[in-house]
Amino acid sequence: MLRSIKGVKDLLPSQTPSWHHMEATARSWAGRYGFSEIRIPIFELTELFSRSIGGATDIVEKEMYTFPDRDGSSLTLRPEGTAGVVRAVLEHRLLDSITTRKLFYFGPMFRHERPQAGRYRQFHQFGVEAFGIEDPNIDIEIISLLWNYFLDLELKDLTLHLNSIGTQQDRERYIQELKKFLSPNISSFCGNCQRRFTANPLRILDCKVPFCVEATHQAPSIIDLLSNDSGAHFQKILTGLKDLNIPFTINPRLVRGLDYYSRTTFEITSPHLGSQSTIGAGGRYDSLVELLQGPPTPAVGFAVGLERVSLLLPEESYPPATPCVFLAGFGTQGKPEAFKLLHTLRKNGITAETDHRATNLKALLRSADKLSAKYSIIVGDDEIQSGIVILRNMETKEQQSIPLKDLSEKIMILFQ
Ligand code: HAM
Repeated sequence: MLRSIKGVKDLLPSQTPSWHHMEATARSWAGRYGFSEIRIPIFELTELFSRSIGGATDIVEKEMYTFPDRDGSSLTLRPEGTAGVVRAVLEHRLLDSITTRKLFYFGPMFRHERPQAGRYRQFHQFGVEAFGIEDPNIDIEIISLLWNYFLDLELKDLTLHLNSIGTQQDRERYIQELKKFLSPNISSFCGNCQRRFTANPLRILDCKVPFCVEATHQAPSIIDLLSNDSGAHFQKILTGLKDLNIPFTINPRLVRGLDYYSRTTFEITSPHLGSQSTIGAGGRYDSLVELLQGPPTPAVGFAVGLERVSLLLPEESYPPATPCVFLAGFGTQGKPEAFKLLHTLRKNGITAETDHRATNLKALLRSADKLSAKYSIIVGDDEIQSGIVILRNMETKEQQSIPLKDLSEKIMILFQ
């Protein structure tokens, strides 16, 4: 038997109701905050991702699904959504007529990571991106949108981690200090960190190897070295979040795994997920639009890992599948009449089902139970003769006789 690829999962019918709930709740919150949906392609030119995310990041170095197209150009399955959204915004001149844009998206992303619980090679994100607003109030709005979304899904024990990694100039200054701190000891760090020392020293703060974590405990904090402007921007965000009663912890090690960030970075984690604990993350990326040849445009956004959120969803928090009516038709006249009724009810907006294989009432009612039907309509030849069918409540087993001509109306009232 052929099986699915490692780290790539099917979403089974028992799981899709919870996904509908996550998606509908996300749409509702994005809409309330003034975001409109954009749908972007699943694959793009490789260069878009290598330029945006950064050549010295784990994603670009080792996690992208890259393949040559027939004309020789290099294509990549999108590992995240921000780069594609920026490309689309520029390509379609969405910032020409109005200078701010608030967009959201859903969809599968692809990263060749080592699969484990909460970490997949195809996973799904809900993301938002706000373009053209420098004011820290938009950072606050983005973070509060993410926070409110998770609260609405009834996720518990969440922590919001917050940091500012400053502007390019702030970081250059900080990196000098960080290197000064690390250099006496760098030969004892893991191989990855030794490589990062030259290529991307900030990422050393994100290393999970116990020695590297321990050895960077006393590292200088980037927040202490922010310029006045970056510091003030960060302080306004802290004050704004306090005003909105959104709790946070400042985490100066939060540097994020993508190179486009500047100033605000944030992540929301759950203690109930093991090592893959981040369910949503984002930050500012004030230079990315320009890097992709657009006008200087500040921007900020986040993406949520929906598989991780689905692992945390309390089951009772989403509505059960729509209740259905079962058409139990049998006999030479009853079966075709029930088939017609099935269509009438569906046209009237009722979820209606039958079992085309069952030929007697017992088998039909067994199927109705298996489908968890709320009601069954029993239509045999006798019912056709009398013009009166039986409506059976599958839970209480109570039965009522209803004139065939009144049936649709009666069902619609019951299902209102
Ligand atoms: P990211 O931190 O790479 O950021 O991913 C965002 C979220 O996607 C993570 O917090 C996690 O929940 C989920 N995720 C990432 N990798 C996997 C995986 N292999 N399996 C399951 N879930 C995963 C971004 O993608 C940025 N584009 C976010 C952003 C938008 N920043 C600004 N705007």
